[in-house]
Amino acid sequence: MLLNVKNLQKSFGGRRILNGIDFTLDEGKVLVLIGPSGSGKTTTLRSLNLLERPEQGVLQIDGDEVDFSKPVSKKTIRAIRRKSAMVFQNYNLFPHKTVLENVIEGPVMVQKTAKEKAVDNARKILERVGLSDFLDSYPHQLSGGQQQRVGIARAVALKPRLLLFDEPTSALDPELVGDVLKVMKDLALEGWTMVVVTHELKFAEEVADKVLFLDQGTILEQGTPDELFGHPKHERTRQFLSRIMNKV
Ligand SMILES: Nc1ncnc2c1ncn2[C@@H]1O[C@H](COP(=O)(O)OP(=O)(O)OP(=O)(O)O)[C@@H](O)[C@H]1O
Ligand SMILES: [Mg+2]
Repeated sequence: MLLNVKNLQKSFGGRRILNGIDFTLDEGKVLVLIGPSGSGKTTTLRSLNLLERPEQGVLQIDGDEVDFSKPVSKKTIRAIRRKSAMVFQNYNLFPHKTVLENVIEGPVMVQKTAKEKAVDNARKILERVGLSDFLDSYPHQLSGGQQQRVGIARAVALKPRLLLFDEPTSALDPELVGDVLKVMKDLALEGWTMVVVTHELKFAEEVADKVLFLDQGTILEQGTPDELFGHPKHERTRQFLSRIMNKV
């Protein structure tokens, strides 16, 4: 088991946002998180990377563990953070750096990889996401879909154990979504372990090993895509699914 999340609880301003989240994920598997706006998907994802700090619960990733009810050492925080890399809805690229510079930033500045080696690796990754012709472009010169593929390349370049995606295609024009989902599907086929917040149900059906439906800070149900989409147990899940399927 690569990821083990136990009883995550998180409040903002006295309001309980995560109400005891539990799930596990094996290495090489893909987990998709769905649920209504405000249900706690982003907070759950950010907790895995310690961008949010829950008040309760235990997080184990690849042999490292944080118990949020206890003081956490800086060393543990660093160790846990290194395990995952996040792809954001709005790409979060450095606007004044080129595509190549964006991708080598983490490896060179944070991981202290030799620049030559980082450049070599970044070129390979950018080729795989179809951006070899754009190494020296700046983010504003790229389409949203291309920018998001840089975002993915940047996460992959860190060689994390776990890739986290927060609605990676929801800011994109519909015709640009496919290229990004294709890259994500390829990563899944290569064996990356991934946690993906997305409402792209076709992608979830094809790629996810497990789907979680989050509602008001609780996992209302979880299962394979077939179980959850084909035979949802709860009325809330059924309502939610029919709402997003009719949104087109
Ligand atoms: N930094 C914060 N301060 C206060 N409240 C917050 C903060 N971050 C999130 N929340 C609240 O926590 C709840 C869950 O937010 P979260 O972003 O996790 O939901 P979500 O499921 O990702 O929603 P969406 O689909 O809209 O992205 C929301 O009610 C939100 O307003
Ligand atoms: Mg969100």
